[in-house]
Amino acid sequence: MAGKYTLPPLSYAYDKALEPIISKEIMQIHHDKHHQAYVTNLNAALNSQAQALEDSNLRQLVSLQKKVNFNGGGHINHSLFWKNLAPPGSKETDIDTAAPTLKKAIVDQWGSIQKFKDEFNTVLADLQGSGWGWLANKQVEGKLEVISLKDQDPVEDAVPIFGVDMWEHAYYLQYKNDKPSYISNIWKVINWQEAENRFKNGVESMKF
Ligand SMILES: [Fe+2]
Repeated sequence: MAGKYTLPPLSYAYDKALEPIISKEIMQIHHDKHHQAYVTNLNAALNSQAQALEDSNLRQLVSLQKKVNFNGGGHINHSLFWKNLAPPGSKETDIDTAAPTLKKAIVDQWGSIQKFKDEFNTVLADLQGSGWGWLANKQVEGKLEVISLKDQDPVEDAVPIFGVDMWEHAYYLQYKNDKPSYISNIWKVINWQEAENRFKNGVESMKF
């Protein structure tokens, strides 16, 4: 049965675009297999929920919600992630020119970009099991924060400025158990232009 959601294409040259930071092999498996699986399973769970609703089967409806949360979160998180990456050395990865407003907000809050990165790196390194690290903008307080979320839980009540996938499928084929190298290298492919855009405009225009 066809579903509502589809795998979004990458917005940069498909293979080798993020090398040597993230290998072609990882990108192919991560995007084409892992993200596709979240989309497929999300559509299947939503279709089953529609049937359960029609059948007035509340127990099944509630049970399926876990699958919707997990796979829907996976679809949201990966859609955000692909767009918040850019080829190393590209103009999008230069925080000074690509994200002047966000850079000022980070420096105002952390004191320096390095101190911000240090905190982000610590949060990533401390994440146990599978999950994500995010720079999020809490709209109510108007305050940036670095957070980690387990499994595929999406950022709630805040704008996800950029995220880093800390599931082993994001780095293990290339970095093996050297998680610190993946963490230090990921900064070379952060798309600061996209981060600046989300900081200024939120993510409401993104369709999931
Ligand atoms: Fe992932």
